[in-house]
Amino acid sequence: MSNDLSRVLSRAVQPSVDVPPFWRIRPPGAPEPDGGVRIVLEAGPGFGDGAHETTQLCLQAMAAAPRAASARMLDFGSGSGVLSIGAARLGLSVDAVEIDAAAIEHAAHNAGLNGVASSIRVHRTLDALQGPYALVVANILRPVLLSFAPALVSRLAANGTLVLSGLLSTDVPEIIARYSALLGGRRPTVHERGEWRAVVFWAPRAP
Ligand SMILES: C[S@@+](CC[C@H](N)C(=O)[O-])C[C@H]1O[C@@H](n2cnc3c(N)ncnc32)[C@H](O)[C@@H]1O
Repeated sequence: MSNDLSRVLSRAVQPSVDVPPFWRIRPPGAPEPDGGVRIVLEAGPGFGDGAHETTQLCLQAMAAAPRAASARMLDFGSGSGVLSIGAARLGLSVDAVEIDAAAIEHAAHNAGLNGVASSIRVHRTLDALQGPYALVVANILRPVLLSFAPALVSRLAANGTLVLSGLLSTDVPEIIARYSALLGGRRPTVHERGEWRAVVFWAPRAP
């Protein structure tokens, strides 16, 4: 992803991007889209302008996930805040986690542009965050997904949805094995866009 990341970071202008089934990502000041759920993003240092397949896979999975009013979402590796803002626009209360200070500021700015700052809290680490989260989304590199598997699964609610993106097809078997073992043998669905894959698990019911 590093070449793509450089490309995104060097982009000076936020593109307008439509992601099925209803997401409309727009720069500030763009005309109101005709329907859909709008996410306003200013170009900046945080990854995630909506044009990358890994982000789009997350947005599609989020649209398909069951949603209860004021359910909680954990956005691990929040970058520009695009996924957090999308979740907040759907009515979820969001905890975002991001290690990069510039991306944290960028996400906070974007949250303000969308009028959802009060629904999103951005943290530097997962440590102080307690589940359960009805929706956990992580668009992040494979080694980080592997290392944080217990931390993410332990914060997932019974019947919650876990979305893991940022994967190539060759990464998928190892990711499924690691997470399935922590989720009582659950099997995920695998979604693809170009060379990129996302794995979506539904957590088992509580006993
Ligand atoms: C591929 S970007 C995803 C951004 C956005 N969520 C999206 O879907 O477009 C991954 C983000 O994870 C952040 N990150 C990497 N390792 C992390 C860690 N251990 N904890 C928190 N954030 C991390 C990176 O700084 C980067 O902003």
